[in-house]
Amino acid sequence: MNLFEAVLTRRSIRAFRDITPEKTLIDDIIDASRWTPSWGNTQPWNVTVVQGEQLRRFKEESTKLAVSGAPSEPDVSMPEKWPPRYLERYRDVGRRTLSSLSIERGDREGRNAFYLQMAELFGAPVLVVVTIGRELSLEYAMLDAGAFIQTLCLLAHEKGIGSCIMAAAVRYPGLMRELFNMSKNERIVAGVALGYRDEENPVNTFERVRVDKDEIVRWVE
Ligand SMILES: Cc1cc2nc3c(=O)[nH]c(=O)nc-3n(C[C@H](O)[C@H](O)[C@H](O)COP(=O)(O)O)c2cc1C
Repeated sequence: MNLFEAVLTRRSIRAFRDITPEKTLIDDIIDASRWTPSWGNTQPWNVTVVQGEQLRRFKEESTKLAVSGAPSEPDVSMPEKWPPRYLERYRDVGRRTLSSLSIERGDREGRNAFYLQMAELFGAPVLVVVTIGRELSLEYAMLDAGAFIQTLCLLAHEKGIGSCIMAAAVRYPGLMRELFNMSKNERIVAGVALGYRDEENPVNTFERVRVDKDEIVRWVE
């Protein structure tokens, strides 16, 4: 797979098979991700890789929190409002995701079931939790962490491992710190669910969209 192909065919996987990839495979992907560029080569990212029993417990406990309606308290605050055109894009991917699963507008039960699936990390057998030191400038460390995550997802894709970057995975950082023994000095920024994609599930094949190039590019010469 060349890089163009990898970039164009990677997509968020929202249904995983119940097979845990070899530890060495995940390790190799993370090892190569270290070559992501960062501000002044500061490499502000740290990762905690969770699988097996601890991941099972995490899914169980976060599902309980989601069901109880516990307020989400992420270390990096999530946007509550979006300007209209971004809101439209956000809603559009939500509609595409749900309707691929035949969950139509107004189907509250279907929606709730999907959100519980999300708390279960869509069945992913591995979760990579990405953190940055609290003492760092949030903006640039986030930029670096984002680049790291993209590298990770592309390399995983090349190795046949599906991924989903998940803000939803880090809604309850207190739970993560408790279960995974993570330091309070690290800000938990995102989770990346990893595993083999369920080829049969339509949530992994619906048509994705991007805005036209002309909408985002301006050449000056
Ligand atoms: C920072 C970030 C957080 C995300 N959080 C979630 C999430 O919590 N749940 C989810 O299903 N997808 C999540 N996504 C995936 C996006 O919805 C997805 O990348 C976007 O719709 C584009 O689709 P694609 O990745 O399939 O190309 C997240 C993506 C990013 C970059």
